[in-house]
Amino acid sequence: MDGVKKLLAGEALSREEFVYLLENRAHLQPMLTKKAEETCLANYGRDVYVRGLIEFTNYCRNDCYYCGIRRSNCYVNRFRLDEDTILERCAVGYGLGLRTFVLQGGEDGGYSFHRLANLVNAIKTRYPDCAVTLSVGEHPKEVYQSWFDAGADRYLLRHETASTSHYRHLHPERQSLQTRLECLENLKEIGYQVGCGFMVGSPGQGVAELAEDLFFIQSFRPHMVGIGPFLPQKDTPFRNEPSGDGELTLYLLSLVRLMLPRVLLPATTALATLLPKGREQGFLAGANVCMPNLSPEEARKNYTLYDNKLSTGTEAAESLQALDKSLQAIDRTLSLSRGDHIERTKPYV
Ligand code: 5AD
Repeated sequence: MDGVKKLLAGEALSREEFVYLLENRAHLQPMLTKKAEETCLANYGRDVYVRGLIEFTNYCRNDCYYCGIRRSNCYVNRFRLDEDTILERCAVGYGLGLRTFVLQGGEDGGYSFHRLANLVNAIKTRYPDCAVTLSVGEHPKEVYQSWFDAGADRYLLRHETASTSHYRHLHPERQSLQTRLECLENLKEIGYQVGCGFMVGSPGQGVAELAEDLFFIQSFRPHMVGIGPFLPQKDTPFRNEPSGDGELTLYLLSLVRLMLPRVLLPATTALATLLPKGREQGFLAGANVCMPNLSPEEARKNYTLYDNKLSTGTEAAESLQALDKSLQAIDRTLSLSRGDHIERTKPYV
């Protein structure tokens, strides 16, 4: 049986079969896009889940070569939102109907583990009907556990690339793929709904690397997968590298949807930044999550992972309305439920 048949039958593929799917994108993409959308509809219906994204600190101890908030970038205005500001943004989001808050930030030593646990607790106490997602990088298992005990439900930690040598090409010596994968395992063991993911078109990435990413995702079986194109940022070592390919990004969304029919898959801001209709195309290719920005204007302006990042200057309410409208145009519905992974829906009191 060939790779396409296996993918559609829910069977595991070899690395070589993933390579085949990638190398034959030109003739497979139209059919697999359609199948991916059908698979999404069959599992989650027309709903697109929204998460309120709060980028609460751009301090980071890491120095990833691709990232605009890397430690060595001295041109970034560093900021750290305090608890009152974050809770205020949650209040705005709650008022708009959002029931998931994503707290994303760099690996900021200035935000102690304890402080973040208290913040998660405060959000969950005020909004027990909401899910809290954390996305703050690599930490010891005990720390992940303490945040889970404080009420955090989900954790996003992109693996970035599943190839050891490619990981080395994207990160300085002190970071390793092994540590990253251990963190992902720990998060899963603790009981989080876990998201991994990668950039498409990051420097040094070829078909073999992408096949490795798909092979890893197939075995790890995450609840969520974040995939967006690499976009250069002018103050990083990768400033002169070309952007990732939007069509290829869409294809990878479709492959992941087909591989993991119940995965929660965002149409990312990076994709919407690269392609004028990127978000909508993402939903038509298998995505079913959107993460509008709830951060205050000042924070958004300085959370510059890459150049030309969309959404500065747009109020949360305004962007939610725009999203609602664009979803209606493609016959999808903005859902204001928590939007948990199907196998993990648990009642909340
Ligand atoms: N282009 C696209 N995505 C990026 N990220 C970081 N820098 C860039 C960039 N230059 C992504 C990484 C990270 C996520 C928060 O943002 O994959 O995990």
